[in-house]
Amino acid sequence: MLNPHFPIFVWHVIIAVAKLFWRDGKNAKARKWFNRAVTLNPRLGDAWGAYLAFELENGTSHEQREVIRKCVDAEPNQGLEWNKTVKKVANWRAKWAVKLKRFVEEVYPTEFNAKPLNREVELLLQGEDPYAAMATAQEEAAAEKDELDIKDEGGVKQESFEPATTFQGAKPGWCFKMGMRGLGYYRDPKQDQAIKGEVKQEGKAKVKEEDEKK
Ligand SMILES: *[C@@H]1O[C@H](CO)[C@@H](O)[C@H](O)[C@H]1NC(C)=O
Ligand SMILES: *[C@@H]1O[C@H](CO)[C@@H](O)[C@H](O)[C@H]1NC(C)=O
Repeated sequence: MLNPHFPIFVWHVIIAVAKLFWRDGKNAKARKWFNRAVTLNPRLGDAWGAYLAFELENGTSHEQREVIRKCVDAEPNQGLEWNKTVKKVANWRAKWAVKLKRFVEEVYPTEFNAKPLNREVELLLQGEDPYAAMATAQEEAAAEKDELDIKDEGGVKQESFEPATTFQGAKPGWCFKMGMRGLGYYRDPKQDQAIKGEVKQEGKAKVKEEDEKK
C-alpha cells in the first residue's frame, strides 16, 4: 500500500487516469482505477464522488450500491472538491451517504441527473437502509394480516385463546382443551360458523315476531 500521506496531487493523478478511461468508454479499466484510488486512500472524498458519478452513468445499480456502502464505511474527510461541499454548514450534520449525494449532485450534475435513480440507490443516498425499510414493510404487512385473521366481521378483535386451569362450562364459540398455548379455551372456527347461523335465524324470527305484532 502507498503512503497515505502522499501529496494530495498524487491521488488526483490516479483519479484523472480513471476519468480518462471513463471518458474513453473503457468501463472495466475506469472501474479498476477508481477502485484503486479509493483502496489506496479511502478517506479521499473526491475519488468516491467521481467513482459514484461513473457508476451512475455506466454501472449497474449493484455497482452503485457497492460504491455508496463502501464510501459510508470509509467516512471520507479529504479532498479539494469534497471539502468545499462537506464544509458547507448545511452539510455538517448530514449522514455520509447524504454528503456523497450532495457532492455528486454538485460536482457531477450531468451524470447525477442523466437517469432516474434505482429505488434502493435513492434510499441509500438519503441515508436510509433500504433492506431495513423493506423488512419493516414486510413485518407491518404480516402484522396487518394477523390482525385481519383474528377480527370477525364486525371488526371486533377476538382473542383466540383464554387460559383456564379448569373447565368452566361450555362457552359458545370456544372449546376447552390442552393446546399449543396451554390449557384453556380456544376459539373454535367451526362453532363460529354455527353461531353465526343461529344469530341469523334468531334475527329472522325477531323480524317475524315484530311483523306479527303490527
Ligand atoms: C456510458 O453511459 C453514457 C450515458 O448513458 C453513454 O453515452 C456511453 O455510451 C456509456 N459508455 C459505455 C462504455 O457503456
Ligand atoms: C479537508 O479537510 C480535512 C479535515 O477537515 C483536512 O484534514 C484536509 O487537509 C482538508 N483538505 C484537503 C485537500 O483534504
